[in-house]
Order: sequence, then structure tokens, then C-alpha cells
Amino acid sequence: MPIRSRIEETIAAAIAGARLDPAPPALGQALDYAVNPGGARIRPTLCLSVAVACGDDRPEVANAAAAAIELMHCASLVHDDMPCFDDADIRRGKPSLHRAYGEALALLAGDSLIVMAFETLTELPASDAGRALALMRILARSTGMPGGICAGQGWESESKVNLSAYHQAKTGSLFTAATAMGAAAAGSDPEAWTELGARIGEAFQVADDLRDALYDEDVLGKPAGQDAVHARPNAVAELGVRGAIRRLEDILSGAIASIPSCPGEAALCEIIRAQAERLMPVIPARMAV
Ligand code: IPE
Ligand code: IPE
Ligand code: MG
Ligand code: MG
Repeated sequence: MPIRSRIEETIAAAIAGARLDPAPPALGQALDYAVNPGGARIRPTLCLSVAVACGDDRPEVANAAAAAIELMHCASLVHDDMPCFDDADIRRGKPSLHRAYGEALALLAGDSLIVMAFETLTELPASDAGRALALMRILARSTGMPGGICAGQGWESESKVNLSAYHQAKTGSLFTAATAMGAAAAGSDPEAWTELGARIGEAFQVADDLRDALYDEDVLGKPAGQDAVHARPNAVAELGVRGAIRRLEDILSGAIASIPSCPGEAALCEIIRAQAERLMPVIPARMAV
């Protein structure tokens, strides 16, 4: 089955399970709204691509790992858009969840998705308990304190920010989890795969900073220019547009060079190259020199 279908089917099953009787209907609808239609699904795609490169001997485990990462990511976006964080009106080209359903349901939808991410892993058969535990550990570390998404968002409440720790925790941690969980799901050593995830995460953050500075809301499907509005530390402010693009190119070539040797190494290199091309922003004509 193609990777995209594996991701969508596993997520759909998790959401359907959460909406069974006696679920409160509006919160059930809000869960569906938070994950569908999805964005680029880049993290679960990376997770399954690594699992396939490592032999994918337990596809059900890899599917659960990929879905868990995407559910966690969607939760983080719902909370990130709320008024106490970025107060964003749109996400993925439609009203942000709290705009559509109100703040109480947005808070609960985010909470439910976080729990659902772990629940998806707990539902694997007892024969996969060892891998499930390893996957939950990686997901927990990439989500909480001291270095996960919560930590990353927490840096925005500090007066002095270490840009690299902030980016690594806010964005990098879930990419590191994606490659490590893909490997762990297929019975390979997750440690060997963290460098690839960290490099892709760093590249993704630089690309996101560039898109935030260069594109408008219609292209992004979310508010533009937010790093400047919120005075957030970012790669464009630090390096300029050209410098940030050079940095992105460097990180991406390092990422490809860091792929560990594995049965599907050549195919994985191609997948990462294709993802890298999609990350590279096109500089609008008004900014070209
Ligand atoms: C957006 O992530 C949040 C950041 C970490 C910058 P994505 O750009 O992967 O969002 P979707 O899932 O494709 O909408
Ligand atoms: C979102 O970061 C990252 C997390 C939700 C952890 P940003 O606030 O920079 O990303 P966007 O622009 O809202 O997607
Ligand atoms: Mg934010
Ligand atoms: Mg935001």
C-alpha cells in the first residue's frame, strides 16, 4: 500500500474510534477538523520512509508510529494557534480550530489528540510490546520537557532565548522522533537515525522561517510574517534571505550524507532529495536581485 494511504487509513481509524458512542459529538467533530484535510504529512511520511528503508518487518507497528506522530503534530498546531500562544485565525487555509469551535473545544481537542497519539501505540498487540514501549518513550521525549514540543513553546516565555535549543525543541524534536520511530518500528536501532531527523528538522525550520518572511497568507494557508510580528528569533532575521537559503542548502546536503547504511538506502536518499526540493522556497520576483 502507498505510504500516504497507510497514513490516512491509520489516522482515520483512530479518529473514528474516538467518535464512537458515547463521545460528545462537537468534540468528535473538532478532532476530525484538526486532522482532516491534512497538511503535507511530512513527519509520518518520513517515519514510514525510514521504516521501509529498514525492512518494514512489522508494517502495523510502523503505521501506528506514523499516525501517532501526526496526531501529536496536529495537537501542537491546535494549541499553537490559540489566543494564549499565536492567536492565529487560519490554519491549512481554513479557520483555526478555536475560531471554528471555540477555545474550550480547541483545548480539549488538542488534549484528546495527545492522548490518542499514545493510545494508538498502546493498542498494538502484546507481541509488539517491546517496540511499542520504545516508540512511546521516543514520542514522550519529543513532546514534553526538557527538550520536546512543550519545552520549545516554553522558550517563547523566556526573556533570553537560545535559538538552536528553541528550534530543536519546537520543531526538530518531532522530526528526530519521526526518523527514530520509523527505525524502532522496524526493529532497527533508533539512535543511528536521530542525526538524519535532526538535520531535516533544522532544514524544515529554516524553510518555514523563509516562507513566513517571503510568502503571503493565501499561499501559506496560515498568517504570514508572524516571526516579525511576535519578534520571534528566526533564521531570516539572523542571516538575511540569501544567508538563510545558503544555510538551508548546507543543512540539506548534510542530511542526505547522514543517512545510515540500510537495505533501502538508495531509495531513501531519493525520497529525502525530493522532500528537500519541496522545502526550498521560490523567491518572489519582487525580492529577486
Ligand atoms: C507547521 O508544520 C508547524 C511548524 C513546525 C513550523 P507543517 O508545515 O508541517 O504543517 P502541516 O501539517 O503541513 O500543515
Ligand atoms: C509551531 O511553530 C510549532 C509547534 C506547534 C510546536 P510556529 O508557531 O512557528 O508555526 P506556525 O507558523 O504557526 O505553523
Ligand atoms: Mg508558535
Ligand atoms: Mg504559530
